[in-house]
Amino acid sequence: MKKDFISIADKTPQETLSLLGLAARLKRDLYAKQSRNLLFGKTLAMVFQKPSLRTRVSFEMAMKQEGGDALYIAPDEIKLGQRESVPDVARVLARYVDGIMARVFSHRDILGLAEWASVPVVNGLSDFDHPCQGMADLLTIQEKLGGLKGVKLAYVGDGNNVLHSLLMGGANTGMRIWAATPTGYGPLSEVVEWARLRAAETGAEIHLVVDPYEAATDADIIYTDTWTSMGQETEAAIRRQVFPPYQVNAALVSIAKKQVGVMHCLPAHRGEEITDEVADGAHSWIFDQAENRLHAQKAVLVDLLGV
Ligand code: CP
Ligand code: NVA
Repeated sequence: MKKDFISIADKTPQETLSLLGLAARLKRDLYAKQSRNLLFGKTLAMVFQKPSLRTRVSFEMAMKQEGGDALYIAPDEIKLGQRESVPDVARVLARYVDGIMARVFSHRDILGLAEWASVPVVNGLSDFDHPCQGMADLLTIQEKLGGLKGVKLAYVGDGNNVLHSLLMGGANTGMRIWAATPTGYGPLSEVVEWARLRAAETGAEIHLVVDPYEAATDADIIYTDTWTSMGQETEAAIRRQVFPPYQVNAALVSIAKKQVGVMHCLPAHRGEEITDEVADGAHSWIFDQAENRLHAQKAVLVDLLGV
């Protein structure tokens, strides 16, 4: 059966760790200028319904650095699900390329592409989760702290796709995740239930709270993301009223561990979910984290398409 990369929850703890090991190896190879052309002759279609900097460029570079090629398909070009149905797009693309990466509004469309395409499909962000970001985040934490087990990550802000992937990844790797979200903006209960079940096997902990200061106390990492995700623009004004207590600023950072790392998947809305002082300060890991999208995704691609 062909493999896809849709959610970190589809991976076992062991598979998650071995993908991270592969990512670390590929990163070392790149730094040593020893690319092994592990994607030689392979092609990836990159279908976007939403804008992107990191996902678009890091996937394209990952393919090229390993001897493959990638084709960017902009939101207006194929109009996935509008000009043409998801099953038809999936079946046509699969006749031309070896893999499909897609960034979609509705998670149903990623599942539809995976169901109908005969080639591997990678989730480049949906309204449900952002697994490539999650893998890059785990890689970053592993590099910075030397491991994942027992690490306390405080996620502060909206209970969105990025939090869902952190819950899945944290549960698979034995992390202690504290999510502080305003009432009514928490993560989906199905994701929390899955993460708690998995946590019982791996020793992870999943805590949901409302108070950002409770989450951030003694945290190894403070993580935040935009208050308004792509597709929620009509809610932006109300969200700007609800979320200010969840800003990651110097006061919040000061109650975490002394060496706390601050993470953000980017793009950042400086002055909203994070201050300049923190984003550009000594605790910030955000650009190392952005770089690791490249290495983590390369591992996913080598796992799915590798020669
Ligand atoms: N973090 C992330 O996915 O960034 P882009 O939206 O720029 O791809
Ligand atoms: N939660 C954000 C992540 C952007 C990379 C969004 O979905 O817009």
